[in-house]
Amino acid sequence: MDQRRAAVFGASGGIGAALADALEADGCEVWRGSRGGGGLRGFAFDLTDEDSIAAAVARIGGELDLVLVASGVLHDAARGVAPEKSWRQIDPAAMARAFAVNAIGPALVAKHVLPLLPKGRRGVFAALSARVGSIGDNRLGGWHSYRASKAALNMLVRNLAIECARSRPQAVVVALHPGTVATGLSAPFQRGVPAERLFTPAVAAGALLGVVARLTPADSGGLFAWDGQAIPW
Ligand SMILES: NC(=O)c1ccc[n+]([C@@H]2O[C@H](COP(=O)([O-])OP(=O)(O)OC[C@H]3O[C@@H](n4cnc5c(N)ncnc54)[C@H](OP(=O)(O)O)[C@@H]3O)[C@@H](O)[C@H]2O)c1
Repeated sequence: MDQRRAAVFGASGGIGAALADALEADGCEVWRGSRGGGGLRGFAFDLTDEDSIAAAVARIGGELDLVLVASGVLHDAARGVAPEKSWRQIDPAAMARAFAVNAIGPALVAKHVLPLLPKGRRGVFAALSARVGSIGDNRLGGWHSYRASKAALNMLVRNLAIECARSRPQAVVVALHPGTVATGLSAPFQRGVPAERLFTPAVAAGALLGVVARLTPADSGGLFAWDGQAIPW
């Protein structure tokens, strides 16, 4: 791994924690962001509070070789967020929350953190998205808010990649699909997933970091799965 200094936004999550642990085990200096903050090189931020993101990035300072946005929401009972089975269940507040956390929040992180990517060498910004956010791949329907917010994230990543390349031609800005991973986010939906397709967070993190290590600036703007395959938008 060539990442020397990294920041993980959403390091309290199942996949985010595993990504941060794997990077640290590899000798990387890792900054871990979560709503609670705390710990060595820990910082507090909330995706719905731009000031908290700006303050966190100011605290990290210096160049970052790798930025991972590993946050996201699929269900949140306290806010009425749950994957819809039908258009009848669409609720504007719940949908707005999904967009705030899954699309607008990562865009705000990018706004503040992309200036910290190196100018004269490779740097990577990767946001965890989901295959179900692919419009071309959608055959099942449902999960309106989650799918649409991830599709919006994918578009934002493509836009950010195009703009970033103008000042940082060696940068890689991508969206990643981690596979189905045993975390709190997927817990209600793991039934029926064959054991060999349900990854532990550590396995998913290892696979994703392998993909990140192999991506080149020519891949910037794309959506890639845990096995390195490009997913259609
Ligand atoms: N697990 C899967 O099977 C799967 C499949 C496809 C895609 N993904 C994507 O992978 C990413 C990570 O998912 P996961 O499975 O690791 O989920 P997770 O364990 O539920 O972690 C979610 C993370 O998002 C953070 N978060 C939620 N709302 C936030 C907010 N307003 N501000 C800041 N942070 C916030 C959580 O922080 P708190 O600890 O503060 O709540 C937590 O760190 C998500 O983008 C998800 O959509 C997961």
